[in-house]
Amino acid sequence: MSHAEALKKKIENHTAVACVVGLGYVGLPLVVELAEAGFTVVGIDILENKVKMLNKGESYIQDVPTSVLKPLVKAGRIRATTDFSVIKDVDTVNICVPTPLRKTKDPDMSYIVSSCEEIARYFHPGLLLTLESTTYPGTTDELMLPMFEESGLKVGKDFFLCFSPERVDPGNPKFQTKNIPKVVGGITPACTELGALFYSQALDTVVPVGSTRVAEMVKLLENTFRMINIGLVNEIAVMCDRMGINVWEVIDAAATKPFGFMPFYPGPGLGGHCIPIDPFYLSWKTKQSGIEARFIELAGYVNGQMPHYVVEKVQNALNENRKPLKGSKVLVLGVAYKRDIDDVRESPALDIIHLLEKKGAKVSYSDPYVPQIRPDPEHGLIFDMNSVDAVKASKTSDCVVIVTDHKAFDYKSIVRNSKAIVDTRNALKGVKSKKIFPL
Ligand SMILES: NC(=O)c1ccc[n+]([C@@H]2O[C@H](COP(=O)([O-])OP(=O)(O)OC[C@H]3O[C@@H](n4cnc5c(N)ncnc54)[C@H](O)[C@@H]3O)[C@@H](O)[C@H]2O)c1
Repeated sequence: MSHAEALKKKIENHTAVACVVGLGYVGLPLVVELAEAGFTVVGIDILENKVKMLNKGESYIQDVPTSVLKPLVKAGRIRATTDFSVIKDVDTVNICVPTPLRKTKDPDMSYIVSSCEEIARYFHPGLLLTLESTTYPGTTDELMLPMFEESGLKVGKDFFLCFSPERVDPGNPKFQTKNIPKVVGGITPACTELGALFYSQALDTVVPVGSTRVAEMVKLLENTFRMINIGLVNEIAVMCDRMGINVWEVIDAAATKPFGFMPFYPGPGLGGHCIPIDPFYLSWKTKQSGIEARFIELAGYVNGQMPHYVVEKVQNALNENRKPLKGSKVLVLGVAYKRDIDDVRESPALDIIHLLEKKGAKVSYSDPYVPQIRPDPEHGLIFDMNSVDAVKASKTSDCVVIVTDHKAFDYKSIVRNSKAIVDTRNALKGVKSKKIFPL
């Protein structure tokens, strides 16, 4: 029996042992879906504490409840390790490691390279490997394939290699790993077929595409589309402000058009692990072919100005009460990069706090999901702060700035207590008050 036929059988009868490398926001939900579909899953991470928690059945990812994880761990369906030698005994490997940008906006491929080096040490015939980390087109065939071909095994015959972009949206109650359609493209048709078969055991919808490069580009198109449209609407927001027009009302009315328009909303700047970063993978790659990704650069510039714009708004709001920014108490509501999640990566709130402090403001923050911010320069965290009670602190602050519109905030009391509020998210939609300054 060929390797492809043997693997197909194991996938179909769920006797294949699955491995997920990188157990974060993307990897852990995938582990759970695969285990729930009936596979035995081994997770690999370099962080001891994550592995320990997982082996106890305790979740550290908001979208994965411990009540779901624990029974799967107890039943022996899920285990975790820091030891890559388990690869010897698995049939599939999904790689979900970070792909950040370097300070120079060049892709940092070191996590992909180091995990692939480890996998290559225990490589064996019959493996199905899929990269899920967001990256530039060409990563799977230019960077990864040669690393595995060094074994002398042949792709599409002895082993199978795919790319499948992860589209998970943490905190989204409607769409999660299971019901977000999964695009998958392989190096050869046999790779695509096996990759699609594997995902279809656990996920609702699988979308096979013709190559790994198409699959890589799909993700970059999606996130570039979003980044550029947010850039456009941020620019429109600044224009509207100058003309005394409420941009939120404009967008809501435009969104009633049943075709040809899709609403995007302005805000304090881009955040998270994807939208501010992924388009630069594309611009980096296209630069090598002599093509300037001008839309991306422009939207990056406009979005990057938004934290400065918010600080200007705070300054103007304080001026209304004849208060200078220097020495004023400013309360930042929400530091997570979006509503109802606990992730502060690339959050514009961090830039806003930094800019406010630089201008001499006394800044505090409140976030029910982020009890503290500890210095972590590698991830852009330079502060050491603890979350304060929003309602109490709004009373003693000169200005409140809503950066992340968590549902849990008691907006009514906050408005009552505050002297001035800059609302960057339209969280106070419909509330009429002279002390509210919308974006
Ligand atoms: N978070 C999201 O919303 C999201 C959505 C879609 C795509 N993505 C992409 O998915 C990828 C993973 O993102 P994430 O948010 O899950 O990151 P994360 O930081 O939450 O998780 C990555 C995990 O990989 C581990 N890791 C790092 N190097 C490793 C190695 N050499 N071997 C084994 N484990 C290693 C880390 O310890 C961490 O636990 C990134 O490329 C990201 O752009 C993320």
